[in-house]
Amino acid sequence: MNTKDQFEPTVFVIFGGAGDLTWRKLIPALFDLLRDRGLPAQFAIIAVDRIKLGDDALRRRFHDGIRQFSRLGDLKDSAWKLFASHIHYQQGDFKKPSTYTMLGAQCAELERKWGSKAHRIFYMATPPSMFGQIPKYLGNAGLTRDRAWARIVVEKPIGYDLDSARALNAILAASFEESQIFRIDHYLGKETVQNILAFRFANPLFEPIWNRRYVDYVTITVAETVGVEHRGGYYDHAGALRDMVQNHLMQLLCLVAMEPMVSFDADEIRNKKVDVLHATRPIHRDAVAQCAVRGQYASGGAGGMRMTAYRDENGVARDSRTETFVALKVFVDNWRWQDVPFYLRTGKRLPRQASEISIQFRAVPHRSFPLEASLGWQPSRLVLSIQPEEGIVLGFQAKYPGAKMQLRPVDMRFSYRGSFAAASPDAYETLLWDVMKNDATLFMRADQVEAAWELLMPVVEAWATTEPGDFPNYAAGTWGPESVQGLLEQQDHRWPQPTELANQADTRGKKRPTSE
Ligand code: BG6
Repeated sequence: MNTKDQFEPTVFVIFGGAGDLTWRKLIPALFDLLRDRGLPAQFAIIAVDRIKLGDDALRRRFHDGIRQFSRLGDLKDSAWKLFASHIHYQQGDFKKPSTYTMLGAQCAELERKWGSKAHRIFYMATPPSMFGQIPKYLGNAGLTRDRAWARIVVEKPIGYDLDSARALNAILAASFEESQIFRIDHYLGKETVQNILAFRFANPLFEPIWNRRYVDYVTITVAETVGVEHRGGYYDHAGALRDMVQNHLMQLLCLVAMEPMVSFDADEIRNKKVDVLHATRPIHRDAVAQCAVRGQYASGGAGGMRMTAYRDENGVARDSRTETFVALKVFVDNWRWQDVPFYLRTGKRLPRQASEISIQFRAVPHRSFPLEASLGWQPSRLVLSIQPEEGIVLGFQAKYPGAKMQLRPVDMRFSYRGSFAAASPDAYETLLWDVMKNDATLFMRADQVEAAWELLMPVVEAWATTEPGDFPNYAAGTWGPESVQGLLEQQDHRWPQPTELANQADTRGKKRPTSE
């Protein structure tokens, strides 16, 4: 099902159809996707929500969302009119069986009109409290009976902890087969995240050195400049560990550390990823302080902007203990990675938006150059930059021009923008298309979600029971609490400065060696 002609009839039902996620992400992505690839005649979007809203009011809302957030941006009248004609609204309480009966009737009516059976995709763009309810109602209404034709899409967070994740997975499993369940982690839809597999396994160059013999340590950074924005209410109950580490950072860890897949089959890839989590050394409850650091931002300023403290954000408790920054040190205990530290960090209100993975290679076993030649010497480093720069930077040593042998670190860079004319689709476009194609490769499987929770539970529990005495402990606009350095300094490692990659890397080789 790759083109409009091969597109099978589909009803795309969005629970939470009048909500923010639908407006900001899902509808603009569907619009761009269907504009790029063609909108089939037998396609309908049914937005379901509690509020009273007619088809026209809903369409106006969606039009506004597309105008603001669509990647293609140009909202031609004809394209919009066509798209709008496929949108329907159904008012209904998610907790009333009648909502599902009406939905069933609407799907049946569309199928009758199209003269064909249609795929039914149920997307839960609702508050997490509904994730455990909607599948049951769908099941009771018989809407999931035909398993080859029904799919459900679940947004993160998948559970609040290991027990609730297991409970949610069990509820989903009661009405759907695992192959019908699409758990979204939007990081997996990002081009550069998918490129990790291409880079590692489509090139023979790096795989032979992608192991403990050559790699000293790995850092994974997902830094955001934004605060909690309008999501204080949700975030204050989640925190960075649940919101970012349990899903996005764990996915990145899996992709960097996994073994080569045998084929590009969804389950083969997901098996290899879950193996990483199974191999990750359990964090002992008593050792949490040695391998995990949490932080919360105080007020601060950057670039002339004054930023409020987390505790003063809307929806956040004034004495909140929720972390807005997390750093972790983990080990993957297997032949490839034994004793190589993987440092993970993420935080809000950091100085720069940057998501990147840095592979720090070991020093050469013997330095043959005279000491003065290699004063600025740095071990090679490979950076997979996910956003906002999309690309790869390899840092290595080169000879500085001149009579003397002088070594300088330089960079070799690949950028998506520079190399490819095509623009990267938004992650949601990729993921929604894959749901429609029934390709689960980029979605989280139940066992992976649970394995990630299992790993993090000692940290969750330790932090729930010990007061973070020093909160808030970093100023907005800085790189997190000072104690985070300690995680790496134990082994004389350091966090790479993302700014070096974007701005200074170009000029690194241009500086005259200091000894000349
Ligand atoms: C979401 C988190 O999953 O990812 C947000 O809930 C976070 O708190 C966002 O801001 C980051 O996504 P991106 O694509 O902007 O890096």
